[in-house]
Amino acid sequence: MNFTITSLRTTFFIFTLFILFIFTFCSISRHLYIELKDIEEITLEPLDIEINRKYCGANKCKFLFPYVVEEQETQCNRHFISLMQIAQRIDRIIVLPNVGGSSISSLKSFPFDFYYNLDELSKRFPKVKFILQKEFQKWANELYNKPDTIHVSLRNSRSNPKYISQYDIPFIDKLLKKYRIGRFDLKLNNSTIFKRINVGKNGRGSRQNRENNDLKEFLSAELESNAEVMLITQNEIRGPLFERLTPMPYARHIINTTSNLIKKLNPYIAIHWRMERGQIDLMSKCAEGLVTYLRNLTLTTGITNIYLATDYPLAENNNNKSQSRTFHYIYEEHHIAMKILNSSFNLNTWVSTHMLDYLKSYPAKEEQLQIELEGTGIQGIFDKLILIQADYFIGGPKGCCRFDSTYTNHVMETREELFKNNGSIKNIIDRWEL
Ligand SMILES: *[C@@H]1O[C@H](CO)[C@@H](O)[C@H](O)[C@H]1NC(C)=O
Ligand SMILES: *[C@@H]1O[C@H](CO)[C@@H](O)[C@H](O)[C@H]1NC(C)=O
Ligand SMILES: *[C@@H]1O[C@H](CO)[C@@H](O)[C@H](O)[C@H]1NC(C)=O
Ligand SMILES: *[C@@H]1O[C@H](CO)[C@@H](O)[C@H](O)[C@H]1NC(C)=O
Ligand SMILES: *[C@@H]1O[C@H](CO)[C@@H](O)[C@H](O)[C@H]1NC(C)=O
Ligand SMILES: *[C@@H]1O[C@H](CO)[C@@H](O)[C@H](O)[C@H]1NC(C)=O
Ligand SMILES: *[C@@H]1O[C@H](CO)[C@@H](O)[C@H](O)[C@H]1NC(C)=O
Repeated sequence: MNFTITSLRTTFFIFTLFILFIFTFCSISRHLYIELKDIEEITLEPLDIEINRKYCGANKCKFLFPYVVEEQETQCNRHFISLMQIAQRIDRIIVLPNVGGSSISSLKSFPFDFYYNLDELSKRFPKVKFILQKEFQKWANELYNKPDTIHVSLRNSRSNPKYISQYDIPFIDKLLKKYRIGRFDLKLNNSTIFKRINVGKNGRGSRQNRENNDLKEFLSAELESNAEVMLITQNEIRGPLFERLTPMPYARHIINTTSNLIKKLNPYIAIHWRMERGQIDLMSKCAEGLVTYLRNLTLTTGITNIYLATDYPLAENNNNKSQSRTFHYIYEEHHIAMKILNSSFNLNTWVSTHMLDYLKSYPAKEEQLQIELEGTGIQGIFDKLILIQADYFIGGPKGCCRFDSTYTNHVMETREELFKNNGSIKNIIDRWEL
C-alpha cells in the first residue's frame, strides 16, 4: 500500500514538474522569439547606421574606391588627382588605396600616407573626404548588410572624341582573382552593374590642361548611383582628365630625410641615368662621356658633390633586380659602365648615404620593406626630390638611357619653377655627350 501511495505521489510530483518545465520552456522560447524578431525588425538597420556614422559621419556611406591605379608613381599620382576631382564632383568619400612598389593599389602593403601627406592633401582638396583602405575594409566588415556595389571603367579613345557610356559584361572572376576584391566584404555578383565610360580623347597626354566642365557634367550624370561602393578603374588613360594640378605632396618623413641630405650635400650635381632603353653596346661609351662631362663641370663650377639617381640595381643582394618595373635585364655591360663611373667619382646614392635606413623602424613587416627597397619603391620618390633641388641636373643623351619620361618631365617642370622664382639652382637640365 505504502509503496503505491508513494509511487502515486512521486508520479504526481514528476508530472507537475513536467508541466512546469513545459510552461517555463514555452515562455522562455516565446520570449526568445520576440527578442530575435525585435533584433531583426528594429535593431539590424540602426546598427548599420551607427557603423556608417562612425566611419563616414552620415547614415549612409557612399564611397569611390579606386582599387588599382595604373602606372608608376609619377603617373598614378596624377591619375589619382583626376579621381579626387571626380570624387568631389559626385560627392563620394574617396578610399585611399595602399601604396608600394612605386604604385597606388589595394594590392600593396603600405598605407597611402607612407608616400603621401594627408594633411596637405586635404588642404589641397578641402571638399573631398577620404578614408584609408584599412578603415574602409573595417567598415565593410562590420556592416550587417554588406554594401552594394557598382563598377566603373574609364577609358579614352585615340580617335573618337565622343563621351560614351555603356554596360559591360561583369568580370567578377577577374576582380576576385587578379585584384583579390574578395578581401573586402562587398556585395558583388552578376547582378552588379558594370559600366564602361569613354571620356573621348581626354587624358591622352600628361601635359593636357583643360577644365573640361562638359566632361565633369557628363560624369556627374553617368556616375549617379545609389550603390554604397563605386569601384573605379581606368585603362589607357595617360594624363589628367581635367585641369592639371600639381602632384600630390609627399609624406613628411620623405621630405624630411631629403632635406637632411640636401643640407649635407649642398652644393651638388645630380645625375639621372635611367639605363633602361639605353643601347647595351653603348654603355661603356656612355659612361666615359659622362665622366668627361663631369670632370669639366666639377672643374668649372668647383662643385664636387655628386648624387646619382639610377635604375641600375644599387641595393645589395638584390639579385640584379633593377629599380624600375619596366627594366628587366641587367647585363655585364651595365655593370662595366657603372664601374667606369664609380671608379672616377665618389657617387652618393640613396644606398651609400643610408638616408632611408630610418625606414627600418617604420611599422611594417621587415620582408615588405625589403621588397620595397630592392626593386622599385619609395627610393624613386626620394631620388626625385633630390634631383629637383640639385644645383645642376644632368640627364643622359639619346642612346644612353630612357631619354624622355614623365618622371624626368616632373623633375624638369619643378626645376623650371624653382629656376624662375628662386635663384638657388643653376640649370633646368643639361645632357652629357656620348
Ligand atoms: C546578387 O545579390 C543580390 C543582393 O544580395 C541578390 O538579391 C541577388 O539575388 C544576387 N544575384 C545573383 C545572380 O546571385
Ligand atoms: C557570372 O556569370 C558568368 C557568365 O554568365 C559565369 O561564368 C560566372 O560563373 C558567374 N559568376 C558568379 C560569381 O556568379
Ligand atoms: C626629421 O629629421 C630630423 C633629423 O634627422 C629628426 O630628428 C626628426 O625626428 C625627423 N622628423 C620626422 C617627422 O621624420
Ligand atoms: C666645360 O664646361 C663649360 C661650362 O661649364 C663649357 O662652357 C665648356 O664648353 C665645357 N668644355 C667641354 C670640353 O665640355
Ligand atoms: C648579376 O649579374 C652579373 C653580370 O651579369 C653576374 O656576374 C652576377 O653574378 C649577378 N649577380 C647575381 C646576384 O645574380
Ligand atoms: C662604388 O664603389 C664603392 C666601393 O668601391 C661601393 O661600395 C659602391 O657600392 C659602388 N657604387 C655603385 C653605384 O656601384
Ligand atoms: C629657394 O629654394 C631653396 C631650396 O629649395 C630654399 O631653401 C630657399 O628658401 C628658396 N629661396 C627663396 C627665396 O624662395
